[in-house]
Amino acid sequence: MTSTLGALTVPLIQAPMAGGPSTAALAVAVSQAGGLGMLAAGYKTVEAMAAEIDDVRAGTLIFGVNVFVPEADPSDPGALAAYAAALAPMAAELGVAAPEPGPFNDDHYAAKLDYLVANPVPLVSFTFGLPTADDVARLRSVGTEIVLNATDPEEISAADALNPDAIVVQGIEAGGHRATHGQAKEPAENTTHELVSSAREYTDKPVIAAGGVSSAAVARNLMDAGASFVQVGTLFLTVDEAGTKEAHMDALVSGQYRDTVVTRAFSGRAARALSNRFTERMTANQVAGYPQVHYMTAPLRAASADNPEGLNLWAGTGFAACRQRPAAEIVAEFRSL
Ligand SMILES: Cc1cc2nc3c(=O)[nH]c(=O)nc-3n(C[C@H](O)[C@H](O)[C@H](O)COP(=O)(O)O)c2cc1C
Repeated sequence: MTSTLGALTVPLIQAPMAGGPSTAALAVAVSQAGGLGMLAAGYKTVEAMAAEIDDVRAGTLIFGVNVFVPEADPSDPGALAAYAAALAPMAAELGVAAPEPGPFNDDHYAAKLDYLVANPVPLVSFTFGLPTADDVARLRSVGTEIVLNATDPEEISAADALNPDAIVVQGIEAGGHRATHGQAKEPAENTTHELVSSAREYTDKPVIAAGGVSSAAVARNLMDAGASFVQVGTLFLTVDEAGTKEAHMDALVSGQYRDTVVTRAFSGRAARALSNRFTERMTANQVAGYPQVHYMTAPLRAASADNPEGLNLWAGTGFAACRQRPAAEIVAEFRSL
C-alpha cells in the first residue's frame, strides 16, 4: 500500500471530530482537495462506523479512522454523585429528571479494532491513550498506517516507543477533548508551538501539529518549527459538509463569544469549549469521570436544544477565524505550505 501521509498534496489533516461534526462528506471533501479526511469512530457503534467507512470509500480511497482508547474506570462514585447533585438545579430549571451518573463503557473498542483489521483502512489514529503493541502490529499487518496522539513530552516518548507512522502533538489551544493519556491526569499546558519545537528530543517520527491552527500562516510557523503536517479541527466545524449542530455553528461565527475554557463539566474529561453559562456554572464542580459525566449531562444538553448557553460548544482558541464555507476552501488556503 502506498503511504497515505506521504502521498498528501497538502500537509493538512482534517481532525476527526466525534459527536456529530465529522461526516463522510467532510472527509471526502478534504481528501479530494488534497488533504487527509478523517472519520471519527468515537461514540459510534461498529455498524455506524462501518457504514460511514463505506460512504467515504465511495468518494475517496484516502482517509483515516480515529478511535478512542478506553481505560479502566478510574472514577470515584462519591465524586460522580456530588457532580450529579451539583447539576440538579440546572436539570430542574430545564425540566429534566434529576441527573444520575451514566454507565461506564469502552466505546466498543475491541470490536472496532477487529472490524478495522478485517476491513483495512489506509490509516488509524488513536486518542485518549495508546493502543497495545499487539493492536498496532495487527493493524500494520494489514497495511494500515498508525498515528498516535500526545500532549506532553512523556506522552510523545511513550507514543514513539510504539513506532507509529506519525505523532499528533496536541497543544493547549486545541478545541474539543484533550488527547491526554488517562483522564485522571491534569491536562498539560504546553502550547502547540512548544511541543513541536521540543518534539525532536523525544521522537524522530513525523510530527503532526494540532491546536490553534487557524490559518496557513500559523501552520507555516509550526512547520518551520519542525512539524511535517498540521491537524485542524475548529476551523472545519463551520464548513458546509460538517455535521455540527446549528446552534454550535452559529455561536462560533456570531462574534458573541469571546473566550474558551478547558473544562470537564460536560463529559468528565478535559475539553476546550466556548465559555458559556454551563461552563461558568459547572466548571467549579467538575470531576474526572468520562464517559459517565458525558451521559449525565446528555439530557440537559438535549433539553437545551437550540440554546447555546446550555450546550458543549467545543472550540479551540482560534475559533474567531471560523466562517461558513466549503471545506475545500480551507484546504486550498493551506496548499501553499
Ligand atoms: C468538536 C471537536 C471534536 C473532536 N473530536 C476528536 C475525536 O473524536 N478524536 C480526536 O482524536 N480528536 C478530536 N478532537 C481534537 C482534534 O483532533 C484536534 O486535536 C483539535 O481540533 C486541534 O485544535 P483546533 O480545534 O484548535 O484546530 C476534536 C476537536 C473538536 C473541536
